[in-house]
Amino acid sequence: MKEDKTLIIVGWGNQAQSWACNLRDSHYPCKIYLRAGSHKANFPVQQGLSTVKASQLAQYQNFALLIPDQNHLEFLNKHQDHLPKAAKIIYAHGHSVHTLKLDQKFNQFEHLLLAPKSIASAMRKDYLNQQNIQAVFSTEHSQNPKQSESFLKELAAAIGIQNPYPVSFEEETCCDLFSEQSLLCGALPTLIEQNYNFLIQKGIPNHLAYLETWHEFFLIADVLKAKGPKEFFKMISPNALMGSQQYNQKYNKQETEKLMEELHREIKDGSFDQKIQKMSFKEIQNQVEEYWQQSPLQKMYQQMNESQS
Ligand SMILES: NC(=O)c1ccc[n+]([C@@H]2O[C@H](COP(=O)([O-])OP(=O)(O)OC[C@H]3O[C@@H](n4cnc5c(N)ncnc54)[C@H](OP(=O)(O)O)[C@@H]3O)[C@@H](O)[C@H]2O)c1
Repeated sequence: MKEDKTLIIVGWGNQAQSWACNLRDSHYPCKIYLRAGSHKANFPVQQGLSTVKASQLAQYQNFALLIPDQNHLEFLNKHQDHLPKAAKIIYAHGHSVHTLKLDQKFNQFEHLLLAPKSIASAMRKDYLNQQNIQAVFSTEHSQNPKQSESFLKELAAAIGIQNPYPVSFEEETCCDLFSEQSLLCGALPTLIEQNYNFLIQKGIPNHLAYLETWHEFFLIADVLKAKGPKEFFKMISPNALMGSQQYNQKYNKQETEKLMEELHREIKDGSFDQKIQKMSFKEIQNQVEEYWQQSPLQKMYQQMNESQS
């Protein structure tokens, strides 16, 4: 008998909504599991998707854990007896499996990785525009890696991911923490904000400072993405080329390299995780929101968007 490939998506958050709507439109069978008391109970139904209760989970074999990484352990502790032996548990990020060794704690299950290298809203947009979504996968914690790989690739294709790259859970976790989650999310908004504030201090009008910093950032990113770095540097104006090279020589690469070494070491030896576990997510989230709410760049962003809507 052919195995039921239905995917149970756990949660109705950012990734869950994109996975579910893309799968629905690709006619790949999927259903949603929401924890008891979730205020989102009607949302999947409004999207034409069915929901399942905890007592029905045992009927299925494939589960995508699309809930925050810090809640994966709690979900598996609570539901391990509801899930069938050898159930496939799919993660969109390797962090919980790598750091908490979930593959060893719950060795009755297969732990698979299908990690989109995309933000959830972009995954839906790319799917609708028939643009490939980049992703990586791992079957290293599967008893039957060949079968798991073809299962993951079929699922990935229905989400809009063609040819995901094979990696290990450790590689995906460390790279994501290092690059996207720490350096890029940390440095890019700060660099643009610093640039904006500096121009304002020098007497540049708000609108111009905004266009030259925030707005330019996306133009540059779009061209870099579409054409690649070599073509980008061929396309920009002579002044932009010369200015960029002058700044490039002054930019302190050694300082950045030191910062990267430190971050890489902390991720590898686990001290990054230990620090994070001691931090209060809610407290940091409130601080960051408060900070940006007060920031002149945020105020200008709102003003520009309101004037255009
Ligand atoms: N966000 C992204 O664009 C992105 C990109 C790449 C990878 N990822 C990965 O995708 C996964 C999901 O991230 P996300 O940002 O999409 O999550 P999210 O939006 O924060 O997920 C929220 C959903 O999770 C549910 N939930 C939370 N704890 C639960 C529990 N213990 N049991 C059952 N449901 C629970 C919530 O239920 P209630 O409705 O009941 O509150 C809600 O529906 C993570 O592994 C993340 O690293 C995310």
